[in-house]
Amino acid sequence: MFSRGTMTGTMKAAPHNIYIHVPFCMSKCNYCAFYSQACATPDWDGFTRKICTEIKYWGEKMMAPNVPTVFFGGGTPSLMPVKTFEKIMSAIRQYFYLIPNAEITLESNPGTLSQTKLNDLVQLGVNRLSTGVQRLNDEQLQFLGRKHTVADAYRLLESAQNMGIRVSADLIYGIPNDTVNDVIQMCHAVNQMGITHCSLYELTIEPNTPFGKMNLDMPDNETMAQMYLTIADNLNLPRYEVSNYATPGHECRHNQNVWDGMPYIGIGTGAAGRILQDGQWYEQMGNNEIFTPISNKARATEQIITGMRTKRGCQLTEHVKNVINSDWIKSNPQHVQINDERVWATDAGMLILDELITKMVL
Ligand SMILES: C[S@@+](CC[C@H](N)C(=O)[O-])C[C@H]1O[C@@H](n2cnc3c(N)ncnc32)[C@H](O)[C@@H]1O
Ligand code: SF4
Repeated sequence: MFSRGTMTGTMKAAPHNIYIHVPFCMSKCNYCAFYSQACATPDWDGFTRKICTEIKYWGEKMMAPNVPTVFFGGGTPSLMPVKTFEKIMSAIRQYFYLIPNAEITLESNPGTLSQTKLNDLVQLGVNRLSTGVQRLNDEQLQFLGRKHTVADAYRLLESAQNMGIRVSADLIYGIPNDTVNDVIQMCHAVNQMGITHCSLYELTIEPNTPFGKMNLDMPDNETMAQMYLTIADNLNLPRYEVSNYATPGHECRHNQNVWDGMPYIGIGTGAAGRILQDGQWYEQMGNNEIFTPISNKARATEQIITGMRTKRGCQLTEHVKNVINSDWIKSNPQHVQINDERVWATDAGMLILDELITKMVL
């Protein structure tokens, strides 16, 4: 249940990250439950107007806060026409203060970005490309419902790398018939790609997807756990979050900020944000005027849940300090560590993260 907001702030808000949701795909993949429509000819003009209206609304309400990161997620943001991207970036620059060297990430599908289009998008500000490689075998890509080949993925990675922007690849492991050895081979192939960031996700079977209705023969839990452990041993990039790996300094700043509890605005249908205004947190949805105050305790708990998934752990803000059980934490050093600034899970703690979080929150 959402309440209609009455934001009363008269001061420029604290820095906020911006997430923009692009809810269109060429077709739906068999595993995916993200909010997006398969649509050959989306109404890009209508989409652009809606996004720019929301940007104007929040920028004016919050008196043009600083923006350290913008993340275009989806759906398939790489389907956006260059003109759409240009108008959205221009609205962000008009209504917010985009800091110098702000990180601007675009999620992309191989086969949807020509060299020319990528070049135009980079000229307009994209400095980080996240690419859905998913698998390195064409038959498996087909099984997942992907519309591109492995060669398409390599071409896109290479184009982006040649442009000197930061590049990340998404991959999925734990599909039917996967073995630990397959995951090792996948890690070695990622090492060869020369990228400095990748996300390796265990396949989740989501209800209301084609896979959700197929009764697939999935690897058992023990094999999945072995696959997860083997990634750390075989990938050259260190893990910095449960599913994310990067050369130090090349982490996704947007996600790091969000996981660390910094406020962010969700723009577009299907996007959610957490806004901070005059010391009050709000849950915010893309539709501009709807937002709900959140208690400090609820917000601190969210920060613990996302922060503890990262290697550096959760920042000890005053609100977080108020909801954690320090005595329990100090008496379980094999699973969780704490200093004056942060609390974090050890490698052993990472394996029982959900249980750990339940015990460390009062
Ligand atoms: C927002 S999605 C899509 C980005 C882009 N449209 C693409 O497909 O490459 C981000 C990533 O989530 C991962 N993903 C989505 N659904 C998943 C699932 N059910 N299990 C595991 N990973 C999933 C995929 O690796 C995907 O690249
Ligand atoms: S994985 Fe990407 S391309 Fe496939 S349906 Fe989900 S958002 Fe669309």
